[in-house]
Amino acid sequence: MFHKAIFLSVAFLAAFGFAQELSTSIVKASPSSLDPHSPISTPSAHVNVDKRQASGTGSLYDVTPHPFFSSSIGVLGCKINTNRVAYWKEEVDCDNICVKLTNTTNGRTVTLLRIDHSGGAHDISYDAWNYLATGNPAAPGTAIAGGAMGKLDYQYIPADNSKSLIMDGSGKLPLQGANSMNFLSSCLSRNTWVGKNYQLWNINDSLCHKGYDEKCTLAPGANQATCPHALGSGVNVEITNPTDHKVMNIEYPTEKPIPAVG
Ligand SMILES: *[C@@H]1O[C@H](CO)[C@@H](O)[C@H](O)[C@H]1NC(C)=O
Ligand SMILES: *[C@@H]1O[C@H](CO)[C@@H](O)[C@H](O)[C@H]1NC(C)=O
Repeated sequence: MFHKAIFLSVAFLAAFGFAQELSTSIVKASPSSLDPHSPISTPSAHVNVDKRQASGTGSLYDVTPHPFFSSSIGVLGCKINTNRVAYWKEEVDCDNICVKLTNTTNGRTVTLLRIDHSGGAHDISYDAWNYLATGNPAAPGTAIAGGAMGKLDYQYIPADNSKSLIMDGSGKLPLQGANSMNFLSSCLSRNTWVGKNYQLWNINDSLCHKGYDEKCTLAPGANQATCPHALGSGVNVEITNPTDHKVMNIEYPTEKPIPAVG
């Protein structure tokens, strides 16, 4: 939890190709990477990020609640279910963005969009964590506090399974026209799920505070989106799509919904 600033700058540097080296050193420096139970923090794990993430299934013992929504690749919080987000240590990639966690003790599962980084642990939205542990949402009367609660099985599943977490029903990952281009370009240069299932919007921040709630297009081969208004505007967003919502965080551990700031 709470490593937002560090990991946002990692995301920024990722654009210049330093991602692998940096995330490796951060993984090495983070206390929970010493956790011998965590199968994807073994010393050789950094060698091939894509292949490792694609390799499917395993168990995690360090899943902790994450109260603040963010997305290093610029996914728009007002257009997705921010209660179902995974924040892993590893780079976000263009295919393995949908991960299912199962509590095998009680059979409860959640499907998550893996669209950001975390510090040492494998973080998930507070609400998802609370549900896996207790069967209840992180709401008044049912939210609990705590850290890692034991073993959870994970499985990367085809990203189509996460389409219901995209609120407008389009199944297209909502990305920022101005700030998602580095990530998107890397997805478009190969045959990837994100490359085939994205929508650019003229909103300039993941918390949906600045810009215009309008769709943008990307001409073939272009590296900049085209939108009705100029890109990267500082006007306050006026939410116009009926399926959008104000980005709220669930405060930990008080379970109070509070508007996301930042
Ligand atoms: C899994 O479920 C059991 C029983 O409901 C619970 O005690 C445990 O904390 C849960 N584990 C996780 C990691 O949520
Ligand atoms: C839009 O986002 C970029 C990158 O985060 C930032 O540098 C710029 O200041 C933002 N524009 C406004 C008007 O907030």
